[in-house]
Amino acid sequence: MSNDVEIRQSLPADIHLIEQLYPDAFPDEDLLPLVRELLREDQHVLSLVANLDRTLAGHIIFTRCGVDGRTDQLALLGPLAVAPNMQRRGIGSALVREGLQQLRAEGILQVCVLGDPAYYGRFRFAPEYGVMPPYPLPEAWRTAWQSICLLDGQPALQGTLSVPPPWRHEALWAP
Ligand SMILES: CC(C)(COP(=O)(O)OP(=O)(O)OC[C@H]1O[C@@H](n2cnc3c(N)ncnc32)[C@H](O)[C@@H]1OP(=O)(O)O)[C@@H](O)C(=O)NCCC(=O)NCCS
Repeated sequence: MSNDVEIRQSLPADIHLIEQLYPDAFPDEDLLPLVRELLREDQHVLSLVANLDRTLAGHIIFTRCGVDGRTDQLALLGPLAVAPNMQRRGIGSALVREGLQQLRAEGILQVCVLGDPAYYGRFRFAPEYGVMPPYPLPEAWRTAWQSICLLDGQPALQGTLSVPPPWRHEALWAP
């Protein structure tokens, strides 16, 4: 990866470029309503941008969620986007790893994601069975629901993930 990649928390001034990034990275899916809503949820989200050579190259959001009556233990990863002409340079991986490190430092125990196991497996995400997504997933997506534990030796979390309003749209959890 280029040494010129800078990862930092997003700023209000980044929103214009973030809004250009998502349609490029997801040409068949409109994630902008979700992204805009999440970026308004300051207290719930960790939003990181990657700048390569001073150009916005990638963005990731982690949403702090609840489970089993607790609100300080778990986060949901997504969305994650890297500009098509800057993919396969380690930028997506750097965003995931930096986010996991920051969440671990603040005491988050576990991070869930609904995504391609072929990609998230490289960070040691594995199928999650104890924490259930807020809406039932189709069987074909079962292995796409994954998580990673950030602290060893913790009892497994159990229950249904309680998400803030931007994630309470069933369509986000269905094909
Ligand atoms: C997925 C995505 C974020 C990866 O970002 P990136 O900066 O290219 O990722 P990295 O450079 O860190 O890793 C690239 C590696 O991941 C692999 N990869 C990328 N997308 C993958 C996928 N969906 N499934 C499996 N592997 C994938 C690449 O083949 C590459 O493998 P290699 O290192 O063996 O060559 C980026 O491709 C993207 O924005 N895609 C479109 C949007 C998307 O699918 N987002 C993820 C939503 S869950």
